[in-house]
Amino acid sequence: VKIAVFLPLLALAACTTTPSDTEAGAKSGAESPTPQQVVAARQAAFNLTAATFGGMRGAAEGGGEVKPLAFGARGLNRWAQALPGMFPAGTQLPESRALPAVWTDRAGFEAQAASFQAATAQLLAAAQAGDKAAFGAAYKAVGGGCASCHSAYRAEETR
Ligand code: HEC
Repeated sequence: VKIAVFLPLLALAACTTTPSDTEAGAKSGAESPTPQQVVAARQAAFNLTAATFGGMRGAAEGGGEVKPLAFGARGLNRWAQALPGMFPAGTQLPESRALPAVWTDRAGFEAQAASFQAATAQLLAAAQAGDKAAFGAAYKAVGGGCASCHSAYRAEETR
């Protein structure tokens, strides 16, 4: 009985020491995230998106310095790139506001994510260049992307 219990543990230990498991995310046991963790992670990313994006509004509309906003813009652009992958099958949970269309109309959802990526790339480039006019225009495009995706793929409230 002891050996039967011990062998799978050994196999597990071997798994956790393969080189690929030294990547981020493997530290807490080399398991894939649970659907609940995926939903929490994307909701957190959206909360941080709203805080970061909202914090840029004064500069975008009032003509303030935009170079310091490159850091936040980079985060938005990285999140835009990761976004579609944060809606895998099996994460349509009651606590999620994602509409079924995220999965039934995947091409449309990915097109929304692609234009969000393009707009955040422009926001980043404008911030890096210190180009206030371009930043203002990109800010509007990014904001339009939030609204456009939400109207088709996000429920008003948690279902
Ligand atoms: C490609 C589609 C898409 C884009 C673009 C997008 N969102 Fe969302 N957003 C969603 C979906 C879907 C949810 C619901 C996620 C869930 O609950 O699982 C969501 C949720 C949110 C939430 C609620 C998070 C929570 O549960 O508390 C906020 C806030 C938010 N988005 C802000 C933004 C802002 C600000 C932008 C633009 C800068 C943006 N989103 C761009 C699809 C998008």
